[in-house]
Amino acid sequence: MTSSRGVWITLEGGDGSGKTTQSNLLSARLEASGRTVVHTREPGGSEVGQLIRNIVLHHRGDIAPRAEALLYAADRAHHVATVVRPALDRGDIVLQDRYLDSSVAYQGAGRVLDASEVRDLSLWAAEGALPDLTVLLDLDPAAARSRLDSADKPFDRLEAEKADFHGRVRDAYLALAEAEPDRFLVLDAAASPEAIADRIRARVEELIH
Ligand code: TYD
Repeated sequence: MTSSRGVWITLEGGDGSGKTTQSNLLSARLEASGRTVVHTREPGGSEVGQLIRNIVLHHRGDIAPRAEALLYAADRAHHVATVVRPALDRGDIVLQDRYLDSSVAYQGAGRVLDASEVRDLSLWAAEGALPDLTVLLDLDPAAARSRLDSADKPFDRLEAEKADFHGRVRDAYLALAEAEPDRFLVLDAAASPEAIADRIRARVEELIH
């Protein structure tokens, strides 16, 4: 984010693309090199956000699309204002699982809202804040599904969506990356975790040196 001293990195991708593995690896590596890392996520990166996360991921039954988009945007507004901006102002590295690109890809993929209105809502919520780097772990939804099936934990509300929904999420992500090639690093999530981690590390090193 321009005008702050820290570096803001977000990780994006479909469910089962390996974001958690990669963000844990990167966080550990940056900390080992002596950097202060704020490792956070959306939804749920603040106390208020935890409450919102519980609604959006675990509410049984439908949530109207506009209400859902507003809940994610509310989580984002509070998270950016109380966690992300203060950390960047201190000069920390903010490493964040999911940000506004998730809203554009997922809420846009529901077909009720279009990508530009979802993006505008998020930008309003976050006062225009955009990360320095967004890593997109791109994976075919069928491959992601078989990873999730073998993980042996119950699906949350969004993971249980149908395959064509996840295909639209993927397409939306790729379109976002194409529109902002300088912000995005797109990696093939089918590669080995070590190979992916190396690519991410190389790009992050360019940013922080
Ligand atoms: P989470 O358990 O954090 O999953 P993951 O490990 O895949 O990141 O669940 C987050 C879910 O919320 C995920 O299915 C994507 C969805 N989501 C949205 O639909 N819109 C958003 O703006 C965000 C941040 C997440």
